[in-house]
Amino acid sequence: MPMPLAVLVSGGGSNLQSILDKIDAGLIDAEVRVVLSNKADAYGLTRARNKNIPAIALPHTAFATRQAFDAEMVRLIHEHGVDAQTGAIALAGFMRMLTPEFLRAFAHRVVNIHPALLPSFPGTHGAADADSYGVRLAGCSVHFVDEIMDHGPVIIQAAVPALPGEGGEALAARILKLEHCIYPQALAWLAKGRLKVQDRHVLVDAAAPAYCGSAALPCLASPGLEPGFQPA
Ligand code: GRF
Repeated sequence: MPMPLAVLVSGGGSNLQSILDKIDAGLIDAEVRVVLSNKADAYGLTRARNKNIPAIALPHTAFATRQAFDAEMVRLIHEHGVDAQTGAIALAGFMRMLTPEFLRAFAHRVVNIHPALLPSFPGTHGAADADSYGVRLAGCSVHFVDEIMDHGPVIIQAAVPALPGEGGEALAARILKLEHCIYPQALAWLAKGRLKVQDRHVLVDAAAPAYCGSAALPCLASPGLEPGFQPA
């Protein structure tokens, strides 16, 4: 059975789209059962509806507490057939911290994409912060989610050169293209049961060596990206 997946978004949902596209291409053995957003106008919801995937707006402002909001998300996710045994939750630009109760309901099955090389530049402006700092390598990370923001065990990271003076927006756009490669790759591994967590270390079964990207998008990914997931 394909891995049942719930995707949580707050905005444009380009990462969601990259996941849907790789599922359609037969590269991720998963099925997106539901897309949830805390923002009713998130374009990610439209992307889901375009593919006849249940898409639910759940404004967090309608809930008295963070716990009540998360409890309703857990209920809806379960209702759509996603549980901790066989399923997973992918945060794709979801701009809310999850409660311990939510994380307990889906223990070790929640993953996130972050636009920086963690543990550098956690928080909401990872790429812009890296640009302001003046780093020469920037990038993105897919990690398991724990109770601390942008902190859980790292599954894959990919780096791009950061160019002096290019500005946070240009750097973020290049990183985003790479996010669209590494997030589907990580989910493909998760769906196939190829990830094992040992303390803070994530072991990828039969991982490829770190990979250098194309001329259009020079990058280094570790573990390497498998065919179908590499930048065009
Ligand atoms: C991405 O940069 C992601 O890393 C961050 O939020 C952004 C979401 O973009 N967490 P999108 O909604 O997937 O287009």
